[in-house]
Amino acid sequence: MATTKAPEDAYTAAPFVPEHADLAALREAAAGCRGCPLHRDATRTVFGAGDTGARVMLVGEQPGDQEDRQGRPFVGPAGKLLDRALAEVGIDPGETYVTNAVKHFKFARSGPGKRRIHKAPSLRETVACGPWLAAELRLVEPELIVVLGATAGKALLGSSFRVTEVRGTVLEAEIHGRRERLVPTVHPSSVLRADDREGAYRGLLSDLKVAARTLV
Ligand code: URA
Repeated sequence: MATTKAPEDAYTAAPFVPEHADLAALREAAAGCRGCPLHRDATRTVFGAGDTGARVMLVGEQPGDQEDRQGRPFVGPAGKLLDRALAEVGIDPGETYVTNAVKHFKFARSGPGKRRIHKAPSLRETVACGPWLAAELRLVEPELIVVLGATAGKALLGSSFRVTEVRGTVLEAEIHGRRERLVPTVHPSSVLRADDREGAYRGLLSDLKVAARTLV
């Protein structure tokens, strides 16, 4: 029987990423990405947003339910918390570029109302989406990347990344041919889920202060 399912090793966005494109052209091309199966269930591709001249790029995991509906990254509860924390440490959220390691919402339907429940992307799906992140980095050329959680860390720094080991420190790494400075921290969703939400928020603020200090 014929099948259209690509072998998992073949997952990659690379053939969909146009060369020498500006951000608008990248965003348009990303809307048609079929580089892994996540496009099948998601409503749309959620590409990065913000200023191409931004000094700071924030990289999250993947769009959530609200982002999938609205087509913009970090517009839901995690994004609101992130914006508040950025403003508190003196980074204007309006002057950042915000994106995700994975550009489609991955979820399972659960419960009586069949709500869409977030599922973490696999490493293979994360790596498959890497060419979009590489293209965004090439265009934005940020001075600093704020890495929000484990998926973003693995996408940028490799599968051995552990957020607990390096959060709140300034790292330097060669990423897609460019020397990058990065400050990892936890994902803002983990603050919303924490039993000690105040403590988790203070931890996020303390990491973001390190990021703010590297920019002055
Ligand atoms: N979580 C993410 O990692 N990214 C979003 O855009 C929203 C929630």
